[in-house]
Amino acid sequence: MISRTVLKSAFAATLTASLMSVLSASADDNEILERVKPTGQLVVLEDNATTVPAAAAAEAAPATADVGKSTYDTACFACHGTGAAGAPITGNKDAWASRVGQGLDTLYSHAINGFNAMPPKGGAMNLTDDQIKVVVDYMIGQSS
Ligand code: HEC
Repeated sequence: MISRTVLKSAFAATLTASLMSVLSASADDNEILERVKPTGQLVVLEDNATTVPAAAAAEAAPATADVGKSTYDTACFACHGTGAAGAPITGNKDAWASRVGQGLDTLYSHAINGFNAMPPKGGAMNLTDDQIKVVVDYMIGQSS
């Protein structure tokens, strides 16, 4: 009899749940729901299989950057993608250099608590402090 090992279904459920909680602000946004729909697949290994197919292994990698980007697109892009209200544009290294120079703790604090025309959490008060930090890391990564 062939024994089979089914991988990833639990992981996929966990990943999906965490993505959904990050983006619960936009649960009514069909585009977001489409973007975060479960992407897991069942991987069935035959007897004696010792490796998971490469494509499946790559897909299983946690996608922190993707969460940062999708949350950014939802909560921050309106200003930081356009410069609205004088926001430093993501990707503009000159605009970010002196801000990054303040240190991460200051950037996190300003993003969470607000700073001049920067509203607390960009107005997305349902995001946790840790979620904001992930987004700030994403923005800095795009801008340095
Ligand atoms: C309503 C427009 C608006 C939205 C939405 C917004 N920001 Fe900002 N943000 C600003 C403005 C304006 C500044 C510049 C404030 C200043 O330097 O006086 C800024 C500055 C910042 C800074 C730099 C702070 C510093 O100390 O230099 C960070 C980090 C930041 N925003 C993160 C975010 C994140 C993360 C989000 C989404 C969760 C977000 N912002 C959403 C307007 C916005």
